[in-house]
Amino acid sequence: MPTTLVLTRSDVARLLDLDTCISAVESAFRALGEGKAPPPGSLSYPTVDGGFHIKAASLNLGRHFFVTKTNGNFFRNPERGLPRIQGVLALADADNGTPLALLDSFEITVLRTGAATGVAAKYLARPDASTVTVAGCGAQGRVQLRSVCRVRGIKRVRAFDPAKDAARRYSEEMSRELKIPVEPVTDLGSAARESDIVITCTPSQQSIVTIGDLRPGAFLAAVGADSHDKQEVDPKLMARSAVVVDNLEQCATFGDLHHAIKAGLMRREDVRAELGEVVAGRKPGRGSNDDVVIFDSTGTALQDVAAAAVVYQRAKEQGVGMEVELGG
Ligand SMILES: NC(=O)c1ccc[n+]([C@@H]2O[C@H](COP(=O)([O-])OP(=O)(O)OC[C@H]3O[C@@H](n4cnc5c(N)ncnc54)[C@H](O)[C@@H]3O)[C@@H](O)[C@H]2O)c1
Repeated sequence: MPTTLVLTRSDVARLLDLDTCISAVESAFRALGEGKAPPPGSLSYPTVDGGFHIKAASLNLGRHFFVTKTNGNFFRNPERGLPRIQGVLALADADNGTPLALLDSFEITVLRTGAATGVAAKYLARPDASTVTVAGCGAQGRVQLRSVCRVRGIKRVRAFDPAKDAARRYSEEMSRELKIPVEPVTDLGSAARESDIVITCTPSQQSIVTIGDLRPGAFLAAVGADSHDKQEVDPKLMARSAVVVDNLEQCATFGDLHHAIKAGLMRREDVRAELGEVVAGRKPGRGSNDDVVIFDSTGTALQDVAAAAVVYQRAKEQGVGMEVELGG
């Protein structure tokens, strides 16, 4: 009887590093853009005071993998002593359906989201981009900055967060880790105006970056809006910029793009490209050094399957995890 590998959060953290994740995610987007991987799917399932996101995708890496990720997102969980987001990935053999592994979703979600921004910055930020502003100094704020520093020569960072001490703690930690100056700021707009790259990774429900906040040539990664109620970018700014999405269907349904469409300022056809099309060289990303390019990130299962496959293969090689006979 086939066995299924169970991998905890700490197993996944031990097995997956950011550099490998960036390269796996880049290859997956390329495969999608070349038509060698089917488009990923997603379903939102609201409940009384929260809900579930269910995402699915497959990817042929020699072995053909399929993943579903179910993440519960319950805003009142911190009051209950539980994490706000919890979930599981089920990795299967896409040719015969055998469940290969069940993995805690936390580390993969964090790393594959950072990795997507790294890939987007590699193709869409100006080659000479050296200054970054990060809005939202949480888990994503950390991995996003690490990832962008892997693909551009970043020399100076500004960090903004309304929560007491969050930007200061982040700045101390990240400047020590990355060995570049990271400074807390209280005015997001003026920091953004002086930056080549701006990253928004907050749960904000209204736009925090507006017209005039981005200078010519800037690249904005809008990462926080991954559900209908969240928003980070002014629809007017979206409409005036070159918009590249991780997945058109998702972004038009619940990303920052969906607010611009709802406001009547953009249509799906106004989107410059999906990231996969840019990586595959099928559509242009940045047109000129003065283009303002916005990457609308909603998070896809394509990234999850790419990352989960790496984790599974490494776990098998290194004998990590617990094998169970689910059908036993
Ligand atoms: N696009 C994707 O694939 C993807 C993946 C994971 C998470 N997310 C989303 O990214 C956002 C951040 O996730 P996280 O895990 O880092 O959360 P987190 O709770 O670890 O950090 C969020 C930080 O944002 C700060 N913040 C809140 N409102 C702000 C505002 N208006 N301006 C600046 N900072 C503000 C908070 O104080 C906090 O420090 C969430 O909305 C999450 O759902 C998106």
